[in-house]
Amino acid sequence: MSVPVIRTPLPGPRAKAIIDRDSTVVSPSYTRGYPLVIERGSGCMVEDVDGNVFLDCAAGIAVNSTGHSHPDVVKAIVDQSAKFLHMSGTDFYYEPQVRLAEELAAVTPIAGGVRSFFGNSGTEAIEACLKLSRYGSGRQNIIAFLGGFHGRSMGSLSLTASKAIQRRGFGPMMPGVYHAPFPDCYRCPLGLTVKDCAAECLDFIDHQIFAHLVSPDEVAAIVVEPIQGEGGYVVAPDQFLQRLRALTKEHGILLVADEVQSGMGRSGRMFAIEFSGVEPDMMAIAKGIASGLPLGVAVARAGLMAWPPGAHASTFGGNPVSCAAALATIKLLKESLVKNAADVGAHLMAGLQALSEAHPLIGDVRGRGLMIGVELVRDRQTKERATSERDAVVNAAFRRGLLLLGAGKNAIRFSPPLVLTKAQADTAVKIFGEALTEVEGSRR
Ligand SMILES: Cc1ncc(COP(=O)(O)O)c(C=O)c1O
Repeated sequence: MSVPVIRTPLPGPRAKAIIDRDSTVVSPSYTRGYPLVIERGSGCMVEDVDGNVFLDCAAGIAVNSTGHSHPDVVKAIVDQSAKFLHMSGTDFYYEPQVRLAEELAAVTPIAGGVRSFFGNSGTEAIEACLKLSRYGSGRQNIIAFLGGFHGRSMGSLSLTASKAIQRRGFGPMMPGVYHAPFPDCYRCPLGLTVKDCAAECLDFIDHQIFAHLVSPDEVAAIVVEPIQGEGGYVVAPDQFLQRLRALTKEHGILLVADEVQSGMGRSGRMFAIEFSGVEPDMMAIAKGIASGLPLGVAVARAGLMAWPPGAHASTFGGNPVSCAAALATIKLLKESLVKNAADVGAHLMAGLQALSEAHPLIGDVRGRGLMIGVELVRDRQTKERATSERDAVVNAAFRRGLLLLGAGKNAIRFSPPLVLTKAQADTAVKIFGEALTEVEGSRR
């Protein structure tokens, strides 16, 4: 089927009825940007309850890595479900969890052996990394980055510094957390360009945080997203991550890579940190790992994950069905989808960059693989953030049948399933261009 096909005004009558019901019984804290009510999905296609068919460049916030309901993943889920659904991996043993830990040891960029702790979500993976950082180092303080997003439970929320609304009303946060500027090179506060930059923004940690706030020998870990996700799809330059690794090594600080969004093939490598050649001590993985089933993993150097029985556990973590889905997902990623993310990602990136010639709203196009951010600005010189315009473009794309998501204050993320074809990427670029034209037209 060629997508998209929009048959009704949006939302259609069935979608509207469900949204009306939702509005009285479901938590209003969710951030629904537009009224999509899904009925089914396949690959990069999503059909809503009124028969409208969309091209999906959101993948349920970068989760459906192998596309919607990939037959191999569905088969793995069905086969495992028929055997058993749960047998708490923290109290008993089952092979899918062991096999997944073996698989992760093989694909994560940490040499010398790793161990995995299994939870159900990104935030749980981060919580495990936080606890293990404190436990393993005997130190208490943590450094994270402004613009970063690491989850919404109290420990991870204390690191999250993306949007104030995410923290508003929930304080006090976990003590001992410090935030440093992230290398947002489009808006470099030091006026440098990627070419002449030697990651000077890291001086803030060395010259400010370590000098005025906390002694480095009391810092347990620095937690970083190699590509900030929620914060706007901002790529950390390789030299930044390399210098960060050197700084952490110098002070015996653990380096935790939050690859919840950038991991599992999305960047065109299995993990985005691989571009820099940096080996972290620990990684948080979730989202794309099980193609949509809940699973979060904290992976750490084996010598570091040396906590005793009872120190940390989870009833549902590492659910066998999720593990089976993850094993099928990793097989598909290794066979073809990491490469597809690199190839089709380059094609999509070129298409979006070409659009910027005709569309003054586009300030910056950046990313890696199929993790691409487009930052919208009102003026390319002043880089004034086009915040309301960003929301309008996302909505205009939705009305034309393209699913996108915002990121940061004024960026749009393209995070499609990694099965996206070049032809589908072209369709996405075409519709995105039309949406930009509509919004630019209404500004005149
Ligand atoms: C980089 C990163 N870390 C952590 C999280 C939290 O994941 P979850 O929503 O599964 O708790 C997210 C979610 O968007 C994320 O993008």
